[in-house]
Amino acid sequence: MHVGIIMDGNGRWAIERGMPRTAGHRAGAAVVRAVVEAAARSRVDVLTLYAFSSDNWARPRTEVAALMRLLRRHLVSEAPRSVANGIRVNVIGRRDRLEPRLLSAIDSIERATAACGRLLLRIAVDYSARRAIFDAARAAGSMRALTCFERRLARATHAAARAGDVDLLIRTGGERRLSDFLLWECAYAELVFSDTYWPDFTEGEFRAALAEFARRERRFGRVLANSA
Ligand code: FPP
Repeated sequence: MHVGIIMDGNGRWAIERGMPRTAGHRAGAAVVRAVVEAAARSRVDVLTLYAFSSDNWARPRTEVAALMRLLRRHLVSEAPRSVANGIRVNVIGRRDRLEPRLLSAIDSIERATAACGRLLLRIAVDYSARRAIFDAARAAGSMRALTCFERRLARATHAAARAGDVDLLIRTGGERRLSDFLLWECAYAELVFSDTYWPDFTEGEFRAALAEFARRERRFGRVLANSA
């Protein structure tokens, strides 16, 4: 099962507490660890987290710098835990605009966890689904096969392994939109929206979303055999 999460609400969480927005991102990073470990203990095979969209470059310079620093520190500090917990980490998205120190942290955690097989954790950084689709279409050129296109799509985002379609998409923070996240892969995703700001999101809510998913009837555009 592939779960995608749009971790929204860090900024509002911090502002409501009289803190800078970056404090919300720091609190959000702590929740990332809890949810990743909950996913590894459940029947989730792939977890894709939206950490930084290509549109996020338009945020104030200090916020962008703080997010990049947080990401780098997270990747460095989580590497040993990821190996111990069997979590393969793969960063998807563009790499040509990332700073060298972040690139080296990405390279290092991807190498260290390459053989892990319990959970594939994909962190989307400088990610734009539209751009990925566009790049894949351009690279596929005249080759028409869908599988070729999908391979190109994975390559366009540096995805190390085929993650398949998203089964469940969770968005926290009260908004109800996709924000250029996994547009292709979410074709038949079940959507669960939570009003909770990401820094307050708990393992219990994550499990409740998985339970909600299990109750959904998935038809993929078909009619179920037992309906008249
Ligand atoms: C959206 O909230 C969140 C982000 C743009 C950043 C998400 C980053 C983290 C959760 C921490 C770092 C990530 C990892 C994987 C360690 P927002 O800032 O748009 O919130 P708002 O809508 O309340 O302003």
